[in-house]
Amino acid sequence: MATDPPGRGVTLGRTERDPDESWNERRADVDVGEILEELGRYLEPDAEELSLPPAAFTSSALWEVERERVFGRSWVLVAHADELTETGAYVALSVAGEPVVVVRGEDGVLRGMSPVCRHRLMPVVEEGSGRTDVFTCPYHLWRYGLDGRLVGATYMKRNPAFDPSACRLPRFAVEEWHGFVFVNLDASAEPLGPHLRRIGEDLAHYRLPELTQVAGWTEEWHCNWKVAVENAHENYHVMGFHPETLHPTTPGGAETTVRADSPWADSMRVRYATPLEPGVLDLTEEERAHLYGFFVFPSGSLAASGDMVIWLSLVPTALDRTTVRGGILMPPAMIEGQDRDAVRKEAEAYAAVINGEDRRGLEAVQRGAASRFAERGHLSPKEPGVLLFYRSLARALLSEDADWPGPL
Ligand code: FES
Ligand SMILES: [Fe+2]
Repeated sequence: MATDPPGRGVTLGRTERDPDESWNERRADVDVGEILEELGRYLEPDAEELSLPPAAFTSSALWEVERERVFGRSWVLVAHADELTETGAYVALSVAGEPVVVVRGEDGVLRGMSPVCRHRLMPVVEEGSGRTDVFTCPYHLWRYGLDGRLVGATYMKRNPAFDPSACRLPRFAVEEWHGFVFVNLDASAEPLGPHLRRIGEDLAHYRLPELTQVAGWTEEWHCNWKVAVENAHENYHVMGFHPETLHPTTPGGAETTVRADSPWADSMRVRYATPLEPGVLDLTEEERAHLYGFFVFPSGSLAASGDMVIWLSLVPTALDRTTVRGGILMPPAMIEGQDRDAVRKEAEAYAAVINGEDRRGLEAVQRGAASRFAERGHLSPKEPGVLLFYRSLARALLSEDADWPGPL
């Protein structure tokens, strides 16, 4: 006789329901074709300004399409180069469930690789960051150099079919842009730099290549990555989520303009309640009057605010889990003569407050998205960036071309 695991088969009214089963799973049977069709409407000229279908945040079928068409071929911001200056410095993370490591080689070159061992699939490095001379697989101790080549495998000499010289970790594409490190699982992806040309021009006075990372963090948020990314694309929410921290300087109703440069790049400009005082950087009056947000689809963002640039990357590890990596950058002159540790602690404490406000709010949104009563909502004119994100998302998900997004 089959026995149900404890808690199964509880009868609620007339519906038999598993109390362990989340709403997320119950939405899994929504037809992915229907979601894609609805997303396609964002690309029509008179598209209705509506939020995503709630199932877009909970559908495991859509998640599989995103893994392939979004994260399988886009440039994902993973680190700032200051974290990867030393030989052997690495950052390891999951990009939509795909283990990835980016490491500085002995030749000074940054490489992106799959850390999945060529023997029997153990990742040779745990998620996180650090420094190493060699990646040793914890399972049977095969060893790989920083370039991914196998440098040692115990007790393998007596297998004549095994050719150690042909054994290496697969490569991903890596691109560094003004100190920001991006990885693309598609090793033949077209370069990112040309897509960011206008953003680079906008940021010229912020002197990105000279900035120093003074603080960094990695957090895990319990929400779908799109809940976090759409939130980053608007300032409208600061009155709700950040009433005491951000709202006084960039009010939720502040004048907001956006610009799309390419399916991979867009930006947003928000007027400060009061312009910033002149600082270390030689910024124009216009620059001191605005907060600038820049987005690299799907998950990277930068915010330039006077003498400070904050980067944030919202990378999914699973359908309802998002890794939030970020850092605060400043001109070296700002921190000269100061206790670096004290600067780091203060910057990290500031980021933890803002991130905590967003995390708590967005985890609640994820619960809302899973409600049976959730529906699409109308967007405000104060959140035009959200629509730009939806359009990039629709283009990525609906394009079957191998060379997406195509030349500029
Ligand atoms: S799985 Fe890596 S050495 Fe066996
Ligand atoms: Fe926020």
